[in-house]
Amino acid sequence: MRKINWAGQYMPVLRAIERRFVQERPLEGERIAMALHVEAKTANLVRTLAAGGATVEITGCNPLSTQDDVARALDTVGGVRCYARHACSVQEYYAAIDRVLDSHPSITIDDGMDLIHRLHTARRELLPGVIGGCEETTTGIHRLRAMAAQGRLEFPVIAVNDTPMKRSFDNVHGTGESALASLMITTNLLVAGKRLVVAGYGFCGRGLARKARGMGARVCVTEVDPRRALEAYMDGFDVMPMEEAARIGEIFVTTTGNTKVIDERHFGLLRDGAILSNAGHFNVEIDLERLHEMAGAIEQRDGIETFILDGRRIHVLAEGRLVNLATPKGMGHPIEVMDLSFSLQALSAEYIAKEGRDLPAGVYDVPAWIDETVAREKLASLGIEIDALTGEQSRYMSAWDVGT
Ligand code: NAI
Repeated sequence: MRKINWAGQYMPVLRAIERRFVQERPLEGERIAMALHVEAKTANLVRTLAAGGATVEITGCNPLSTQDDVARALDTVGGVRCYARHACSVQEYYAAIDRVLDSHPSITIDDGMDLIHRLHTARRELLPGVIGGCEETTTGIHRLRAMAAQGRLEFPVIAVNDTPMKRSFDNVHGTGESALASLMITTNLLVAGKRLVVAGYGFCGRGLARKARGMGARVCVTEVDPRRALEAYMDGFDVMPMEEAARIGEIFVTTTGNTKVIDERHFGLLRDGAILSNAGHFNVEIDLERLHEMAGAIEQRDGIETFILDGRRIHVLAEGRLVNLATPKGMGHPIEVMDLSFSLQALSAEYIAKEGRDLPAGVYDVPAWIDETVAREKLASLGIEIDALTGEQSRYMSAWDVGT
């Protein structure tokens, strides 16, 4: 509980929402099912939702990111049940998701779409009771859009990840800082001067690349999208295919959301002592199954697995899972970043409770007023004021027949 309170004091936007929720109880009677990283910042979101009147059942969205002390503390919060356990087996992981769904949720909050996937496959009998959901991360939203395109998504879902107040802070600054911090704590190695390869120059990748450069790393980027590759080039990074980067890289971080980004095409090319890590999606970006088959010997220490391939050591962090969360000391995103992301979640859940019944099934943007509210609250908490458009400026911005 002390961990949860520590995080809470640096989450002013969520605190303000919680104070309003206590007064207005906008989630009264809702049953919220959550599959998120169970740690102290998430716990503050759970408390906020419970303060709004909801009952909340939560499990993890990654077997290694659960903090057991936080999970047990959550169990003591009124209206909350937590089923997450650190390092649980795959069977236990899905059993916990089923236990959460046994609550017959009216609202889902996912990070990676596990709840929604299960609801649309093994637990379809529960679908009629669901008003809608919220999705936290890029990969979950890719899949939701694919489901919606095939007419398979049966309720409205808010794409929390895609809104500017999430992507530009959580993915860029959150992943950037926390992945580097975790990498350094786990290996105790210097970043300055190292050849650091970032796979994928999306929101996460560019944050990581820029921050690593700020620490003195010699960063190179791999991409498959020509526009993103060009952006990386013009931001001053070396851009090259992974087969080239594999030969020179000393530290690798994947942030693509894709599968087998580093695989058997690359393992044989890596330098002795190369460090592989993933800050993108789940544990699929580095093909560890193949590495296990190819590697001669394996050595393990906290958060680091070493493979010996043709006499060269290849070190993999956190079993190829999210390096910022799944290493022994991984704390996930910095608190202030999650204050923004979880404020968006809390307000999106409130929006679903109020408006979700009128929304057809599909993937929806976070309403712009929610995005703006979170930005304004954050600025206010920092004591920063900004200008407002004058009447003349507003008219000028919306006119097509003046000023040309
Ligand atoms: P994004 O879509 O903005 O960027 C992904 C980039 O990877 C794109 O530019 C794409 O062209 C590139 N890419 C795809 N396949 C590739 C390949 N084989 N080789 C090189 N580049 C490739 O997505 P975003 O927002 O940067 O998220 C990336 C991943 O990180 C997602 O899986 C997301 O769920 C995850 N994520 C992880 C977080 C964490 O805490 N570690 C936080 C937020 C997101």
